[in-house]
Amino acid sequence: MKVIIDSAERIAELAAQRYTQLLSRKPDAVLGFATGSTPLGLYAQLTKLVQRGELSFAQASSFNLDEYAGLDGEHDQSYRYFMNHNLFYHIDLPIERTRVPSGMTDSDESAAKYDEEIQAAGGIDLQLLGIGNNGHIGFNEPGTDFGSLTHIVQLTESTREANKRFFASIDDVPTHAVTMGIRTVMNAKSIILMAIGSAKAPIIKATLQGAVTPDVPASVLQLHPSVEIYLDNEAAALL
Ligand code: PGA
Repeated sequence: MKVIIDSAERIAELAAQRYTQLLSRKPDAVLGFATGSTPLGLYAQLTKLVQRGELSFAQASSFNLDEYAGLDGEHDQSYRYFMNHNLFYHIDLPIERTRVPSGMTDSDESAAKYDEEIQAAGGIDLQLLGIGNNGHIGFNEPGTDFGSLTHIVQLTESTREANKRFFASIDDVPTHAVTMGIRTVMNAKSIILMAIGSAKAPIIKATLQGAVTPDVPASVLQLHPSVEIYLDNEAAALL
């Protein structure tokens, strides 16, 4: 794994360069996007590059990692809404080629159709990941089978607690989500994981330097042949 450590602003610029490189080589690349606070700096950079004419997503397509169960794309806390407002409406990626798992999916069987769609699109060239304080990637909470495809999960209380800042109260935070599985993520040709802030330092240490174990879902990335980890100085403090 390649580890890049710098300021939060600089890692966003460096990660954005990966998109410029990939899309100049392969304009119709398939991109895996993520939600959360962490990618916002990167999304601002991508927006800036597109608006300056230095980057184009016009031939690309995308698949997002996850979505809250029970929220449709109009809900202002849905991940579809987040992506539209923080990235898709500001870049030239045709909205009909952006995919987010449906929060209305009601069985693992229908959730796994997402993997078929990814395969039909040729597979993900570059998957972006944040990381939860408990090591989750997407919403694959500790204990998730490394062989999992897109499926419905019950969110842990720690994840609901971490995400309640966006809702009126903890009772409004969904209890379930639909997420790409660990195998879905590992099938991507290349992966970028980003982490910012001191709260992520212990889980970054466990992910990069600890055992590969479902107890720390992100540790599976040690087994992937093409991973870059972008950390700000605080997230890297315990390495
Ligand atoms: P964050 O979330 O970027 O808001 O810290 C990351 C995650 O939970 O995967």
